[in-house]
Order: sequence, then C-alpha cells, then structure tokens
Amino acid sequence: MGDRTWSLSGLAKRVKASQRGVEILCRNLTSIGLLNYEDGRYRSSHMARRYLNMHSPEFRGAYLELLQRQWEDWSKLTSGIRIGKPVDEDKPETAEYRQSFTWAMHQRSVETARQVTRQLPLTKARSFLDLGGGPGTYALHFLKRNSSLRATIMDRPAALEVAKTLAKRYRLQSRMNFVPGDFLTESIPWRYDVVWYSNVLHIYSPKENLKVFRNVKRSLVPGGRIFIQDTFMQNPHGLGSVEANIFAVTMLLYTKTGNTYSVQDVKRWLQRAGFSRTKTHRLRQGTGDWEGIILEGRIPD
Ligand SMILES: C[S@@+](CC[C@H](N)C(=O)[O-])C[C@H]1O[C@@H](n2cnc3c(N)ncnc32)[C@H](O)[C@@H]1O
Repeated sequence: MGDRTWSLSGLAKRVKASQRGVEILCRNLTSIGLLNYEDGRYRSSHMARRYLNMHSPEFRGAYLELLQRQWEDWSKLTSGIRIGKPVDEDKPETAEYRQSFTWAMHQRSVETARQVTRQLPLTKARSFLDLGGGPGTYALHFLKRNSSLRATIMDRPAALEVAKTLAKRYRLQSRMNFVPGDFLTESIPWRYDVVWYSNVLHIYSPKENLKVFRNVKRSLVPGGRIFIQDTFMQNPHGLGSVEANIFAVTMLLYTKTGNTYSVQDVKRWLQRAGFSRTKTHRLRQGTGDWEGIILEGRIPD
C-alpha cells in the first residue's frame, strides 16, 4: 500500500481481489493496528510502513516468510507426534533456505540484541565466539558495546554469507572472523574468553548439548565463560511456560532431537562438562529474547 491512502474499490482492483474480501481484511488489519481508516479510505499505519513495506530498511519479510512456511508444516503435527521426528526429515536443506532462515533470525533478534548486550557487559573479554551465530546479530551488538572485543562466528557456510553481509553493513568486518563448520563433529578453532550459545540448545538432545559443552570447554581460556540464551522450562515439574512448551512442538516438527529444557537440567550438564561455576542472569522484564533468562558457566582459572 506504500504511503498512499486507498479506497476499497481501488485497493481491490490493484491487488486483483474481491472487494468483499478486501473490505473484511482491511477492517481486521485496522483493528490490530496495521492500517488506519479515515473518510472511507485506508492507509498503512506507522508500524506497517516500518516493518511490512519491502522498501523499508527495517522490513521483516524474511521472518514473515519463515512463519508462512511453518503454517503448512504445523498441519502435519499429528504425523509428527506419531513418528517423533520431522515428517520430511530426508529432504536436504538448500543454501537458499538456510540464507532466508538466517535473515529471519536477524530480523527477529535485531531489537532484542541491542537490549540484551546492554545488560551483559563483557568489559574484560577480548575474544568472543558466537557458536551457531547465524547472522551474527548478537556478535555485532556485543562488538558495538565492547570496543576491545573481537568476534568469531562459527556456523554453516550459507549462514555465514548473511553474517558477512551484515558485518559490512555494520562496518565491523575488520574485528570479525568467520569459521564455516559443524561444531558437533568438528573441533572449534582458536581460544576464547567468552562463547555465546544462543538459540541453539533447543535444536539438540541433552547428550548432544553435553558434547557441545565439552567442545566449548576445550576452546575456552582458563576462567573462560559460556553464556546460553534460550527459552527454559521454569516450573519444578518442567511443565511450563506456555511459550517454552509450544516451542518444543516447533522443535518436534523441525529437528530430529531438539526440545526445551529446564534451567536445572542445563546447569547439571554444564557441571558435568567441567563448568564448575554456574549462574542465572535475569534480564529486565520485556527486554530479553524469550523470558530473559541467560545461563552462565565458568571454567576454573
Ligand atoms: C536458531 S539459529 C540461532 C542464530 C543465533 N544464534 C541467534 O540467537 O539468533 C541456530 C543457528 O545454529 C546453527 N547451527 C545449528 N547446528 C549447527 C552445527 N552443528 N554446526 C554449525 N552451526 C549450527 C544454524 O545454522 C543456525 O544458524
């Protein structure tokens, strides 16, 4: 709709749809704040112009595409529950899918990364690894806030293409390294003060995560730390929150072994992997990815 105001008949003609359909759609979009209505004409709201206009620098198109793809996959939920793994698990992943997914990850976290990194100062750290960093949105924001830091992103090659584009856009490429690889089967190169493991825990089983933690431990300098950001099960029986439960369903549909876990479980795995001190960071309400819980594990000095 751009910046213009539209009559219903004009809009219906332009999008080649029925006026009845467009009228009901516009009324609904107005009620949720995506359109404004005045004198019989509709116009995109400020929010819609900012996030839903493909010419806006803040366009969230890739994230919407991801949600649209999920729409179809959620209809296979019954089969997913029966077989306990993704229905089309044999379909190979394309580079195009990985890149589009990675842009979606950037679009969903760009605002949050700004707030999260503000609350986790890495003042003494010099080297930072964003493990499974995807677009590297968190690494970029940690770099912006910590001028002595250098960051490495380890991920699949297609994801790193997006990370490199963003690094240039943020003018931070001279402080970054990119490592293509699989951190479950390959060793992690170099040594780091801090490893950031954000939204990856839920892709893997407890056993696989334990293996990753052991790999991470080998890649840390003495006294080094891992930070884990994810959605965590929070009541003693591991039955909540609603958000963490629903996300476990998403993992059932899209991963072979993923799930959501409790803070206590993850701390236990960290201890077993050699992180002798663990800590829970709680971010200011409404400022975190998920519920704003970040777990920290530290290895001995
Ligand atoms: C859900 S995204 C999270 C991206 C980013 N860390 C964030 O918080 O927005 C998970 C990322 O982990 C990467 N990943 C998962 N398993 C991996 C593995 N075994 N080796 C390398 N990268 C992996 C995926 O390619 C993807 O970019």
